[in-house]
Amino acid sequence: MNDQMIKVLLIEDNPGDARLLQELLMDVPSVAFGLEQVDRLSSGLTRLQEDNFDVILLDLSLPDTQGLETFVTLYSRARNTPIVVITGLNDETVAIHAVQAGAQDYLVKDQVTGDVLVRSLRYAIERKRAEQKIREQAALLDIATDAILVRDLEGRILFWNKSAERLYGWSADHVLGETDELLYQHPLPQFQDAQSILFDQGEWSGELHQVTKSGEEVVVESRWTLMRDDDHKPKSILVVSTDVTDKKKLEAQFLRAQRMESIGTLASGLAHDLNNILTPVLATAQLLQIKFPHLDEHNRRLLKTMEINAKRGAALVKQVLLFARGVEGEQAVLHLEPLILETQHVMEETFPKSITTDTHLSPALWTMTGNATQLHQVFMNLCVNARDAMPGGGTLTIAAENVLLDEKCTQTNLDAKAGSFIKVTVADTGTGIPPGTLDRMFEPFFTTKEIGKGTGLGLSTVIGIMKSHGGFVTVSSDVGRGTQFDLFFPAVIAAKSEETNDPEILAGNNELVLVVDDEAAIRDSNKVLLEAYNYQVLTACDGIEALDLYIKHKDKISLVLVDMMMPVMDGEITISTLQKINPQVKIVAVSGLVSSSQTAGVANSAFLPKPYTAEELIRTVSQACRASLA
Ligand SMILES: Nc1ncnc2c1ncn2[C@@H]1O[C@H](COP(=O)(O)OP(=O)(O)OP(=O)(O)O)[C@@H](O)[C@H]1O
Ligand SMILES: [Mg+2]
Repeated sequence: MNDQMIKVLLIEDNPGDARLLQELLMDVPSVAFGLEQVDRLSSGLTRLQEDNFDVILLDLSLPDTQGLETFVTLYSRARNTPIVVITGLNDETVAIHAVQAGAQDYLVKDQVTGDVLVRSLRYAIERKRAEQKIREQAALLDIATDAILVRDLEGRILFWNKSAERLYGWSADHVLGETDELLYQHPLPQFQDAQSILFDQGEWSGELHQVTKSGEEVVVESRWTLMRDDDHKPKSILVVSTDVTDKKKLEAQFLRAQRMESIGTLASGLAHDLNNILTPVLATAQLLQIKFPHLDEHNRRLLKTMEINAKRGAALVKQVLLFARGVEGEQAVLHLEPLILETQHVMEETFPKSITTDTHLSPALWTMTGNATQLHQVFMNLCVNARDAMPGGGTLTIAAENVLLDEKCTQTNLDAKAGSFIKVTVADTGTGIPPGTLDRMFEPFFTTKEIGKGTGLGLSTVIGIMKSHGGFVTVSSDVGRGTQFDLFFPAVIAAKSEETNDPEILAGNNELVLVVDDEAAIRDSNKVLLEAYNYQVLTACDGIEALDLYIKHKDKISLVLVDMMMPVMDGEITISTLQKINPQVKIVAVSGLVSSSQTAGVANSAFLPKPYTAEELIRTVSQACRASLA
């Protein structure tokens, strides 16, 4: 700023005042000022559009505008240029208002000296630049993906960026001035240590378990920096935190999976050897009974005991193998409903009356391929565990529903796959499972039950059977509240179409369908469903992307499925534009609002009202595609 000329725009209609200011500036020896004067606000605004100025000197009473309004109009059009207001002795109040509204400073006519004027102009420019810089930095902090906050030494939050809002769910308005205790469920034991390291070394970094507004637990990698004031005294703490919740979950799952795999290898090796040992023992025990038919009662009982125990050993070995290798057994297409109702029946007959059972089966559950006996075993093992977890009674819920999993689920769960599944939930209101047990409970022989009460094979059997059914299990548990196991079985949707009498018509023939919907969840589920029925699918999130894709793949696309209510370019415009590109284009219009009459006039179109079932979607698409052949 020093070496260059400072360009000043003076908006002042009084020639005498203008003259005076000009002369004051000329007298300054160290700085060169270039002053340009206009006598109307309107001409000032025009000049500002044509040219850049470093600072504006503004008289508030001008021929075309008066008072505070003069400032407000200029300020709204010249946000980035510092403004210094000049005013007469008697209207200083207006000038003060102007400063409150964003002017950098004000000068009173007749009291201005050269020094005062120069100082005012230079400070105005500097302050404006500093303000801009701060605004830029604040904007940068807001686009950072890490949660960034500043707290004072008492823990009160002074700064809270957008990512902190996203991560914790609290808005800046709500947390500023509050203490950061709201991020913690309990006071953390390592907090004191962290603080003393921070004061000692100026920084601390480590992992913290925190809670969000909705009570969800998040794990963050947090870096703290001690900020000091000019006297080098600690003033506040800058905290930058990265959300590692998903990463941690995956890591834990990965370790568990690795451990299970090594246990599996160990178990199957051991089982194999044990089988070789037990087989001759069992054979000998049986042979001896045949060889010595006249043995006395006592000795016969000894041999019988030997035989029974060898058999028990063999059964145990078989069960361990089941965990390691999955189970064999014939599988057929089946419905889960009767199996679940049967399990419920057994529970009601045999469980204590203090346990209430609750069963929810969604209508029209998909079918799956499986072995009924083994599946029954899975449900019983989980229900028995639930019973044991509720010694004082409670509620045991079994539920089943159809679910579509998208790629997102696979990012937080190692075992999960995208696709259509039947989800069976077994939930109890019992003791819950502490984290240490949660990590190990699927291992064979892991039990927390007294000797004789549990062998620890229940859940490992569940895993073995799930494995051989191509499914997977997830668990969530709250200590003191209860536990929920979710079993996911791959659905056989195609088999369902047998019920529609005409499977050939419903299944596609590799036709390419373009699905246009602004809701990702709907796009994903439609894609999964259509692909299960042998259609190929392209997706677009709005009309513009749809047109782009349609132009690229026009020859291959058989049908376009368009949501009528989209924010960027609505369904109607999308459809009419598609028809301009190709008058023969086949359309299925989807909407919860418009009636079919709106699309009735459109050639080659069908209408699918929301909400629709999987079958309605497939049926409409298949009919529309067939129509295109006609
Ligand atoms: N619903 C549940 N609530 C609380 N803890 C559970 C629940 N299900 C399983 N567990 C814990 O997991 C452990 C292992 O369960 P698993 O079914 O494999 O063996 P077990 O029930 O101890 O013995 P087994 O099933 O062979 O009779 C249990 O001992 C228990 O600590
Ligand atoms: Mg059990």
